[in-house]
Amino acid sequence: MNQKLKRIRQICFALILIATVAGFSSCEKYAYAPPAVDPNQTWHFQTDIQPIFNAKCVECHNGTKQFPDLRSGKSYDALTQGGYLTLPGETSKLYHQITTNSDHIPRTTDAEKLKVLYWINQGALNN
Ligand code: HEC
Repeated sequence: MNQKLKRIRQICFALILIATVAGFSSCEKYAYAPPAVDPNQTWHFQTDIQPIFNAKCVECHNGTKQFPDLRSGKSYDALTQGGYLTLPGETSKLYHQITTNSDHIPRTTDAEKLKVLYWINQGALNN
């Protein structure tokens, strides 16, 4: 008897799971706004990442202190030589700083954080 109940429970659970998956996958591709930052697009250091540094970071990261110099022409070397760009990007010191350091979190938008992440995961090229 107990076994039979268990079996019925399993079947019910499976049916609910199937219904949920079917329900989600039947949605139109973009029932919501498409994400603004596309992980499949190639992200470029010179045109996508450095402008973020110029606007949001160089007021402090300008070569006068121990932390990385993020000025144009200096930033790539500072980040690579300092070991800030490691894979996977989620655990790199650069991404970690802008997403977990309480002073740094508000300095960049979610879209900017994702650009940095995708650029690192695409190999952190000086492109
Ligand atoms: C108002 C000044 C200020 C601004 C603006 C600023 N930072 Fe920083 N940053 C610091 C200070 C101070 C430290 C060192 C202390 C710390 O880790 O918080 C630091 C440290 C760092 C580190 C090194 C962390 C480590 O573990 O060595 C990284 C990477 C970093 N910042 C990235 C950025 C990026 C990217 C931006 C721009 C989006 C930025 N910072 C903007 C002040 C700033």
